[in-house]
Amino acid sequence: MCGIIGYLGDREATPILMESLKRLEYRGYDSAGVAVLELARPGEEAHTTLTKSEKKVDTLISKLQANMPTGHLGIGHTRWATHGKPTYINAHPHTDCHGKIFVVHNGIIENFAELKAELQAKGHNFTSDTDTEVVPHLIEANYKGDFLAAVRAALKRIHGAYALAMFSTDDPELLIGARLNAPLVVGLGDHEYYIASDITAIIPYTKRVLVLGEGEVAAVTPLGATVSTLDGITVQPKLIHVDWDVSQAQKSGFAHFMLKEIHETPEAVANAVRGRLTDDGIVSFREFDVDDEKLRSYNEVLLLGMGTSRHAAMVGEFLVEDWAGIPARAEDASEFRYRRPTFGPKTLAVVLTQSGETADTLVGLHRAKERGALTVAVTNVFASSAARDADGAIYLHSGPEIGVASTKTLAAHMVSLSLLALRLATVNGRISLERRHELVAALRALPDQIRELVDREPEIAKLAKRYSRYRNFMYFGRGLSYPVALEGALKLKEISYVHAEGTTGGELKHGPIALLDKEFPVIAICTASSTKDKMVSNVYEIAARDAPVLALVTAGDHSLDGVAKDVFEMPAAEESMAAILNTVALQLFAYHVAVELGQDVDQPRNLAKSVTVE
Ligand code: G6P
Repeated sequence: MCGIIGYLGDREATPILMESLKRLEYRGYDSAGVAVLELARPGEEAHTTLTKSEKKVDTLISKLQANMPTGHLGIGHTRWATHGKPTYINAHPHTDCHGKIFVVHNGIIENFAELKAELQAKGHNFTSDTDTEVVPHLIEANYKGDFLAAVRAALKRIHGAYALAMFSTDDPELLIGARLNAPLVVGLGDHEYYIASDITAIIPYTKRVLVLGEGEVAAVTPLGATVSTLDGITVQPKLIHVDWDVSQAQKSGFAHFMLKEIHETPEAVANAVRGRLTDDGIVSFREFDVDDEKLRSYNEVLLLGMGTSRHAAMVGEFLVEDWAGIPARAEDASEFRYRRPTFGPKTLAVVLTQSGETADTLVGLHRAKERGALTVAVTNVFASSAARDADGAIYLHSGPEIGVASTKTLAAHMVSLSLLALRLATVNGRISLERRHELVAALRALPDQIRELVDREPEIAKLAKRYSRYRNFMYFGRGLSYPVALEGALKLKEISYVHAEGTTGGELKHGPIALLDKEFPVIAICTASSTKDKMVSNVYEIAARDAPVLALVTAGDHSLDGVAKDVFEMPAAEESMAAILNTVALQLFAYHVAVELGQDVDQPRNLAKSVTVE
């Protein structure tokens, strides 16, 4: 959701805030703003300059370039609107009645209406529709000369989710951060400190990062950062060393982050396998080190995720059941959290989340833990909430993913789930050595196959250009290709705003086929699998209704020549690896349709990279 940055140090704050907001823009881009404390010049009082824009970060940057505040302490924000429209007034930072306290916030303050009424009754003057504005007013109401104490007292009254960065003009050497149910990190530089909603914002400046725990407050001064609870008890935060490098957070000549990240899929896949797989197919995960006997004791696997990660969960469900013979179910985490759970200590709960911060997925994880399940987070972000809260973590090691639509991390998720399924199959004696060798070979061949496929981008772009005139699309597949179809449809609608839906080959005849005609194309995933012949029959049925079909088939398969309008030959691969290859092909297809339609691929409307509210 919203991106937050705070800076205190020797350098000018404004350029750093501007650069960081650009890097954070993928978290939300409805409006943006910065507050910079300008130190007193002779004869003047210290004051804070607030610059905001009701548009994207670039508009804010133009304003700042025209009128650059100077100072060494500042905070910035890029917004994904929850309470109140994306207007100038609602843009952060927000301030108190006297314009002394400045706050940026990510999350939702659930009791804001009650607090606002209480503060208004005491004479506080509110100007925005946001929930955030109660924070500076609440701090103001609690201020008795000690800013940190006032922050703690205010936060004790707040329910919901917050990551906050704040300062007071009266305390020019104090930057405060706080978090509850929303991520926040403190970057430690050389004579400078950062507070950020995620690591991507600060990787060019420092690799040393403190990760705040729930309900913790960081007080940053030129002397260092101290972390404490709301009761003022000092805590030792976790210091991590980030291994992402700055080039990974830049477009490096690609037109969009999404395209760059699709091109990075071969490395993402190789990184997810590296060091985890022996030649005999024995899998080990360093941060999820459960012995064979214990792992054998789990008789059910629950997989939770949202969006693209839910599709990864569905792939995991298929693989665990197929390879390991263990009952598995993939769930939409936002629905799961409100159900009456029917599982317990014999369940292995696998939580899929690229960011490690998706609110619904985290609640699902907590519910699974409460019921005694063994939990593991499969995530790309080191020390993210999911990684910290679960019993174990399987890191994707994909490097930062900036494009709002997930791409390379889905492939890494799918590969990680293959490894997990292989491990479960092995400890349960469900898989032969020969089959393991086959899978090892397939996993090792995959990066090169993806590279070959991505090199054929111009062919896919050509197809996308032709299909971009249609306003509706149906994607369909069977087995592992069903989640791939759902993901293909999701990618297309997310970034091109063209209606698309995914279904199974079997279900197609039970309703969706009624939609089809010559203006309603179908993307059929017909690569080699045990159900390929059924898919071919389905394509015949569709073609008979005049719907144009674009079919993905395995290289050398001519069974749909002359039936499908277009046939795209995919590299021959083991079925689970083919699912990954098909996913990449459909990502490129969606990307090029969106580009053809002139859409903002990296920042699609109404979406955000990391959904940290319910
Ligand atoms: C948002 C993003 C999706 C992503 C989903 C889950 O909706 O726009 O691309 O798949 O969140 O994110 P996660 O970080 O949990 O994988």
